[in-house]
Amino acid sequence: MARKKVGILLSGRGSNMMALVQAAQANDSPYAIALVASDKLEAPGIAWAAAQGLSVFTQSPKGMAKSDYEALIDAALRDAGVEIIALAGYMRLLSDAFVARWRGRIINIHPSLLPKYKGLDTHARAIAAGDAVAGCSVHIVTEELDGGAVLGQAEVPILPGDTADSLADRVLAAEHRLYPRILAEFATQ
Ligand code: GRF
Repeated sequence: MARKKVGILLSGRGSNMMALVQAAQANDSPYAIALVASDKLEAPGIAWAAAQGLSVFTQSPKGMAKSDYEALIDAALRDAGVEIIALAGYMRLLSDAFVARWRGRIINIHPSLLPKYKGLDTHARAIAAGDAVAGCSVHIVTEELDGGAVLGQAEVPILPGDTADSLADRVLAAEHRLYPRILAEFATQ
């Protein structure tokens, strides 16, 4: 069976990207990483991906119309034969036009148990609310921020004395287990 070609978009350290790349190295992985792309030329995740021999693409959006920037990303993804886009810490909102062009084929990992805590500062908000449980969600990307159908979630406890940082570490470890598993399921649909 042909492996689904995945393009990963990131803006930073890329630990979720690394988890996806490592899982894709398994003989029975239903997906392969065809491109790792970033809006940040200096993203640590891009340096790591390039060192692995993966195809990488960087394009700063500075000084460009959003539509022109996205057209370049879109072309790079299509040139690489990408079928599924996996967002992994990509810190830009995709335009409605881009989402429409890739409808149902963009997924994202978000560090909360959606629909709770869309947007930023999820861990601090969960602690401030007195929640006993936090977690992460993989969801389909739609025009609504963090609003598309949830494909899978993982829970972790919030422990006494947790800070946003200590909780973030626990959630991140759960993300690294969840994202490859859900992407594999998505790629075999
Ligand atoms: C993760 O917390 C993820 O849930 C969020 O952005 C962060 C990315 O971290 N979307 P990394 O770059 O994958 O390490």
